Amino acid sequence: MSLTRPAAVMILAAGEGTRMKSATPKVLHRIGGRSLVHHAIDAAQGLEPERLVVVVRHARERVAAHVREAAPDALVADQDDIPGTGRAVWCGLSALDAMAMAAATHLGLARDEVISMQATGPIVVTSADVPLVDTELLDAMLADHTACGRAVTVMTARVDDATGYGRVVHDTDGAICRIVEHRDATEAERAITEINAGLYVFDATTLRDVLGGLDRDNAQGELYLTDVVAIARAAGKPVGAFVAPDAQVVEGVNDRAQLSAMGAALNRGVVNRWMRAGVTIVDPATTWIDVTVTLEPDSTLLPGTQLHGTTSVATGAVVGPDSTLTDVSIGEGATVTRTHGSSATIGAGATVGPFSYLRPGTALGANGKIGAFVETKNAHIGANSKVPHLSYVGDATIGEHSNIGAATIFVNYDGVNKNHTTVGDHVRIGSDNSLIAPLTIGDGAYTGAGAIVRRDVPAGALGRNSVPQQVIEGWVASHRPGSESAEAAVRALQRNHEGEQGLVEPISFSQDDAGSERGTQ
Ligand code: UD1
Ligand code: CA
Repeated sequence: MSLTRPAAVMILAAGEGTRMKSATPKVLHRIGGRSLVHHAIDAAQGLEPERLVVVVRHARERVAAHVREAAPDALVADQDDIPGTGRAVWCGLSALDAMAMAAATHLGLARDEVISMQATGPIVVTSADVPLVDTELLDAMLADHTACGRAVTVMTARVDDATGYGRVVHDTDGAICRIVEHRDATEAERAITEINAGLYVFDATTLRDVLGGLDRDNAQGELYLTDVVAIARAAGKPVGAFVAPDAQVVEGVNDRAQLSAMGAALNRGVVNRWMRAGVTIVDPATTWIDVTVTLEPDSTLLPGTQLHGTTSVATGAVVGPDSTLTDVSIGEGATVTRTHGSSATIGAGATVGPFSYLRPGTALGANGKIGAFVETKNAHIGANSKVPHLSYVGDATIGEHSNIGAATIFVNYDGVNKNHTTVGDHVRIGSDNSLIAPLTIGDGAYTGAGAIVRRDVPAGALGRNSVPQQVIEGWVASHRPGSESAEAAVRALQRNHEGEQGLVEPISFSQDDAGSERGTQ
């Protein structure tokens, strides 16, 4: 860390971002699970500035509300209707000074003392559309600014294609003398490949003095912050460049192609960081991890895995392939295969999938199972309990060591209200049950296959309501004569007949009603 704590970091977020062609302001577009402006806020906060200022204008209410949520202590400054990055910084600095002076006035200080409350020292200016810029890079620029004793430091980068960027013009002695915007540049200037990255450190007093001298005499009719360089230099102030070590890091997002490219670059960094921290990631290209996700060493992510929000994966757990999890916590040694889940907790050693859909409020206990084609919502499933196949479990509490038979539906919705079902420990729910809530099944209870359970089943009882099966001999031959089924039946009856003659051992089917209380495992 540099020893200097900046007086302020100012994030410029007032521009419209027309090239995004979006109803959403550019700075609210997201990569890596965070908005562009939130990435800028994170990088800025790492410098521990005395004040964080975010300058807004376009879609003011939306952007300001978002900033307040991400950084409650930030000062949101409004840019007026004079356009340009120079005006944005002027508005930000005015708001900062006004706030300090209001506080001083409130304390009853004298006029001289009130003015002396204006910010002094270094002010870092960054932009809300350079999401790969992190604290480390800002800090390196700040340390260079301080070490060189400058009044203005501009971060620059050498790029292959400088189209659209401001070009950095040097004197014959090599010192930086001005920045010219692409649209204002001559052919010769456009050939310059050192660009302005749009990140700066200014001495606050110099900045305050110089900003008043900007004019709108340029192709866009805006007040350009970049003109500060030439003006400060003409005033004899020390001005210099800090060259970014990696040009890709300072690339800005202006359109959706760049948004996607920056998103991929950010993700590559995140994935690499986790692999170095001991996580096995089989296919980094198809694994997407938000910056807010946490992974423990010796967890494994298989191809096609997307982890979002506050998702966490404990050691020994295996996630994927093809799983999308948002705010899901996965316990030690659990496996989650081809699953879509959000706001759920999966216990240690539990298994989920393939093809499971975990909706918010799902909590699966240790060594539990949510199997193929199972949907869960507001469902607490206890340790060692299983919902192995083709079921819906909604608004339910299931105890430990219980088994829910295949194709069981927790019927939670009566058309008006959602109702709760409680299932105890060591319960065996038969296959294809409808458990009609509100309902309580006691510990150790069983239900029959195909049961429609409307009344509570006490501990240890059997609940069943299936009607006895009828068998009508010869029905197919008389009702579906000539069909393939009828012909197959004829052949089977013939075989049985031959069996009875002692040629073949007959196959016997026993009709065992007591056996129908079987679930599935
Ligand atoms: C700016 C620089 C250019 C540099 C490039 C780097 C100027 C004049 N040009 O150009 O030299 O190479 O960044 O990415 O500064 N903004 C405001 N208020 C405004 C206009 C913009 O707050 O009135 C904000 C935007 O929200 C954005 C940032 O300033 O976050 C940069 O604005 P943008 O319009 O993208 O500037 P560029 O044309 O890219
Ligand atoms: Ca830009």
